[in-house]
Amino acid sequence: MATAKKVSAIKNTPKHLLGIQNLSVLEAKEILTEAKSFIKLNRGSSKKLDILRGKTQINLFFEPSTRTQSSFDLAGKRLGADVMTMNMSNSALKKGETLIDTAMTLNAMHPDIIVIRHQDSGAPNLLSQKVNCTVINAGDGRREHPTQALLDALTIINRKDNIEGLKIAICGDILHSRVARSNIYLMNMLGAEVNVIAPKTLMPTGIDNLGVKSFTDMKKGLDGCDIVMMLRLQNERMQGSFLPSKREYYEFFGLTPEKLKFAKKDALLMHPGPMNRGVEIDTKLADDINVSLVKEQVELGVAVRMACLKLYCK
Ligand code: NCD
Repeated sequence: MATAKKVSAIKNTPKHLLGIQNLSVLEAKEILTEAKSFIKLNRGSSKKLDILRGKTQINLFFEPSTRTQSSFDLAGKRLGADVMTMNMSNSALKKGETLIDTAMTLNAMHPDIIVIRHQDSGAPNLLSQKVNCTVINAGDGRREHPTQALLDALTIINRKDNIEGLKIAICGDILHSRVARSNIYLMNMLGAEVNVIAPKTLMPTGIDNLGVKSFTDMKKGLDGCDIVMMLRLQNERMQGSFLPSKREYYEFFGLTPEKLKFAKKDALLMHPGPMNRGVEIDTKLADDINVSLVKEQVELGVAVRMACLKLYCK
């Protein structure tokens, strides 16, 4: 009897991962299932596979990054790809070359995957129209950061088994955050209820149209929440003054043990990093292994990126 061939939800769709908004529930779940299988491998002593042997992965980072860049770097290497990470501050861009010219130059070298982080929203989409290979978005402007949302989802599933029915608060600089946007799409898609909490000046107009409830008060916004995601103030994306002072921001929107009590008793804390201790989060809380999932997020990030590279690179 012939065995049924496993059908991938991703196979027949475009081979780029540009945002959660373009994903179906099936695709998101397939990535998460695939990622689960890499968690154990990453904890073992031998971590090398040859799934991407012979493939070339170029990481193009136009914005500074510690976690995401090293995570994609390791993920590609663990799957056996040849990985080249380019520090774009040293590139010909400094000499006036456009993103498209850079893309065409790299395309001529026949990469199989380009991972791109860029300060402009939409840059990965533009790139994907100009090259012949898979493009994976590692964060574009304030638009999307799909692999961050996927790793956040995997971290939650790892602890709470399921996302459906959970109440998740996303708190901080919602206006400038691609992490917030990707997480709103993904958590909604997976059946969670999402609250966003921010001062008025950092709350995008029309945010309620994305299927969230918005709050300017931590007490109300955290009420009954299972997960509290804190965000960094994206100062590099702010022009002008959005806040009176960091001290005042911490007073009203910084997560402290006292404010965490507004959420459920067993609520867990997440942060994509980098953290600004004493600005959006109390330093002890950030390191409290009983509530903070920050290290787990980093760990599972590698598994999620391995899954994305494997499923999208055909
Ligand atoms: C986030 C990003 O770059 O969008 N960080 C990350 O990828 N780990 C969040 C941030 O920079 O605040």
